Amino acid sequence: MKRRIGILTAGGDCPGLNACIRGVARASYSLFDTEIVGIQDGYAGLIEGNYREMKQSDFSGILTLGGTILGTRRTPFSEMRVIGEDNVDKVKEMKQNYKKMKLDCLVCLGGNGTHKTANLLSEEGLNVIGLPKTIDNDIWGTDVTFGFHTAVDIATDVIDRIHTTAASHGRVMVIEIMGNKAGWLTLYSGIAGGADIVLLPEIPYDLDIVCDALRERTEKGKTFSIIAVAEGAMTVEEAKMKKKERAEYRAKTGFSGIANRLAKELQEKTGLEARAVIPGHMQRGGTPSAYDRMLSTNFGVHAAQLIASEQYGQAVGMLNNTVSHNPLSTVAGKTKFVPRDGHEIRTARAMGISLGDKVK
Ligand code: F6P
Repeated sequence: MKRRIGILTAGGDCPGLNACIRGVARASYSLFDTEIVGIQDGYAGLIEGNYREMKQSDFSGILTLGGTILGTRRTPFSEMRVIGEDNVDKVKEMKQNYKKMKLDCLVCLGGNGTHKTANLLSEEGLNVIGLPKTIDNDIWGTDVTFGFHTAVDIATDVIDRIHTTAASHGRVMVIEIMGNKAGWLTLYSGIAGGADIVLLPEIPYDLDIVCDALRERTEKGKTFSIIAVAEGAMTVEEAKMKKKERAEYRAKTGFSGIANRLAKELQEKTGLEARAVIPGHMQRGGTPSAYDRMLSTNFGVHAAQLIASEQYGQAVGMLNNTVSHNPLSTVAGKTKFVPRDGHEIRTARAMGISLGDKVK
């Protein structure tokens, strides 16, 4: 049995993409007669017909490599069915190129947006499999995504390093962690790094409560404080606003990100010296951790097994510590947020971490 597999990586990159590509390829080569087509820059390459035949040797030496050998781009799902000024019918082009490449299936490595387009293509009759990557860990239907734990390690290392300089200077350090909608990365690295205050998009914060938490620490004789704030964290007031209104309100403050704004507000309100730290895309760079190499490989192998048994329209995931899969249609369009009553939140509160909200 011969299978021609198209592989693409879409959305923001993360460590573990190459390890996962390698997992798909190596397991496929060992399970069946395999030909692999590498599609460049995600769905953009599928639309534009930008692809290349891959050799088995192309998948060697990439296990530890960060980023993606296939390149990636954000091609928003919301625009997939929109025909723009270029007059390109993206869905039609993707289907035609799939045919032109003579694919038996398409493996899409990506986050929430990628899974939505994967599902669209599956509904359009293509054989598609989704693989969950993102440092945000916010894909529904999997306990964990690859890339997440490497990012947790990186962000935790940032928090560790900030501790010493915060202590030396007696400052409040506000560290902005990636995650616009979901706060998993901030919560995990905040707890692992021993942050004193953790602010998440899922739990709107009250600035006065954050100030009180800082003052309480000062009263206890603590000379410095560490705040881990998710880039998408918001105040109680902002949470009541519509997305557009919130963006306009934030633009008026003159700060592009939350850490700088929060550091200034806290310094003004408490009189404590505050600094902002933004590790940014560093959190997505470099070598995947051993955990992520293992997870990516597990997921890649599972995708190859699905291809071997012709089970398409599936999204691979980790469910109760078992590598498994869900129909793409049940995963697409959902986001896995941090549950407010989840065990991680309870751990944070039990450790005395302030989440900037009123504890009932
Ligand atoms: O989805 C992953 C992520 O790193 C988010 O945490 C972050 O908000 C976003 O991507 C940044 O996107 P970009 O790479 O387009 O700057």
